[in-house]
Amino acid sequence: MVIIKTSSAAETGMLGEKLSALLGAGDLICLYGGLGAGKTCFAQGVARGLGVEGAVTSPTFTLINEYYGRLPFFHMDVYRLDSVMEMEDLGYEEYFYDGGVTLVEWAEKIEELLPEDRLDISIDRAAAGEGEDFRQVTLSSRSERYRLLIKELMTFVRPGD
Ligand SMILES: Nc1ncnc2c1ncn2[C@@H]1O[C@H](COP(=O)(O)OP(=O)(O)O)[C@@H](O)[C@H]1O
Ligand SMILES: [Mg+2]
Repeated sequence: MVIIKTSSAAETGMLGEKLSALLGAGDLICLYGGLGAGKTCFAQGVARGLGVEGAVTSPTFTLINEYYGRLPFFHMDVYRLDSVMEMEDLGYEEYFYDGGVTLVEWAEKIEELLPEDRLDISIDRAAAGEGEDFRQVTLSSRSERYRLLIKELMTFVRPGD
């Protein structure tokens, strides 16, 4: 488990952008954290890093937005999902195992559907007193591939970058 602190929305986006360079087809990134934590901000960085052009907005009402950069980018936000069945109707597995990068906001809502082979990223407001714009980004995984990826990411994330 690795914890990275960011001090602005731009910095959180930059972290997503750096991560994107390490991503390959079929990768799954699960984002956790309350409303306004910075999940979409992080997703926008990933999209930018994958070479997606144009605006990336939160798919809160559409559940999923598809973009095409270096790889397809499937951006999900399951906040408004009423049941896991709805997710099945969406054909989520096709996305998870397709040749793109899938990123899910509010992944805690579909925990039972998530494969172990995934990168978990939790974004939380930092401790009181650190200021409104500080966030704590926690990266973890049960899968060896993503553990290595986290290690690799740390080699080019330096405080203040
Ligand atoms: N360090 C930070 N990282 C990410 N967002 C931040 C940070 N500091 C302030 N913010 C602000 O918090 C909000 C995060 O919004 P958003 O990314 O849409 O959150 P979520 O998708 O988790 O609901 C934005 O208004 C952003 O400008
Ligand atoms: Mg969001």
